[in-house]
Amino acid sequence: LTVVLLFGGRSSEHSISCATAGGVLAALDPERYTVIPVGITRDGAYVLEDNDPAKFVLNAQALPVVADNGTRVRWPQSASSRELTVIDTSGERSLGSVDLIFPILHGPFGEDGTIQGMLDLLDLPYVGSGVLASALGMDKHFAKTVFQQAALPVAPWRTLTADDWAQAPGMGYAALEQLGLPAFVKPARAGSSVGVSRVGTPDQLAEAMAVGLAEDNKVLIESGLVGRELEVAVLQGRPGESTRASVAGEVVVTGRDFYDFAAKYLDAPGVELVCPAPLSAAELTEVQRLAIAAFEAIGGAGLARVDFFLTATGWVINEINTMPGFTSISMFPTCWLASGYTYPELIDELISVAIA
Ligand code: DAL
Ligand code: MG
Repeated sequence: LTVVLLFGGRSSEHSISCATAGGVLAALDPERYTVIPVGITRDGAYVLEDNDPAKFVLNAQALPVVADNGTRVRWPQSASSRELTVIDTSGERSLGSVDLIFPILHGPFGEDGTIQGMLDLLDLPYVGSGVLASALGMDKHFAKTVFQQAALPVAPWRTLTADDWAQAPGMGYAALEQLGLPAFVKPARAGSSVGVSRVGTPDQLAEAMAVGLAEDNKVLIESGLVGRELEVAVLQGRPGESTRASVAGEVVVTGRDFYDFAAKYLDAPGVELVCPAPLSAAELTEVQRLAIAAFEAIGGAGLARVDFFLTATGWVINEINTMPGFTSISMFPTCWLASGYTYPELIDELISVAIA
């Protein structure tokens, strides 16, 4: 089976995607898969990358990136072809016919339905959610709207565009007053906590809005939830099998404001991941039910990680990630490892479901 691993990309999560790709590259059995690693530079150029997992490990001192090495990978020229070619200094040559694309991309232009739309146009099968579920999962405003409609619990929020904030900042302060403090300001379409700020007092709102609007022209102001932070991984079943949810992992934040980018990837102290999280059987059953319901509410495919808060009044869905981080320390593989899979088995499962 020839698999194209697509990673990097134009979003602020470029390096996390590279680190995820490093983990997946290391887990793909060379006896079973011919892997074509295709990197997307920050500029959006498709380059043929090295099949070298060590090049893309998560390193807090120097996050991995896709550099422009001068090669250009060319997609099939029609929907009836699956032939990938590469152009380099020696000319153009075929990379062979591809069976499946594994778009390990996080954030806009990768996890948001855009790449998925291009692959649909070319009739190339891929791992994970399609156009609509990817777009919904990426946009926190619309994901929450869909969850609410499906009677799934979400934290109260208001959405402001850059224009709203420029013309009527009072809308933001009114939202804060209605939602209460602390609140969180989040770009609608970003991930890995990039652009997210905790607002503890109204005078912190302007800075938080500026940080959020630097990532997207639409931000959410959300009520800060008090409770435990837990995450559940979801895997679509093969034909005839039902969707499965993993055990829950817990993010225990002790020494910082929240589970921010530095705690996620830069080894910053103050956060500990515990998996499986201590939960009663009834709590686990309920959060697994909600995770699968959230996945189904957006019409997800393949995989997702659904993030929750366990508050005094019950479970609240924070968000869904249709291409969750897959680095060696990430919660998605950790949850499945704790649920009885090995990392290579997990990758095999994702590929099998995608081509079934
Ligand atoms: N957006 C990051 C990669 C995650 O959800 O794990
Ligand atoms: Mg996310």
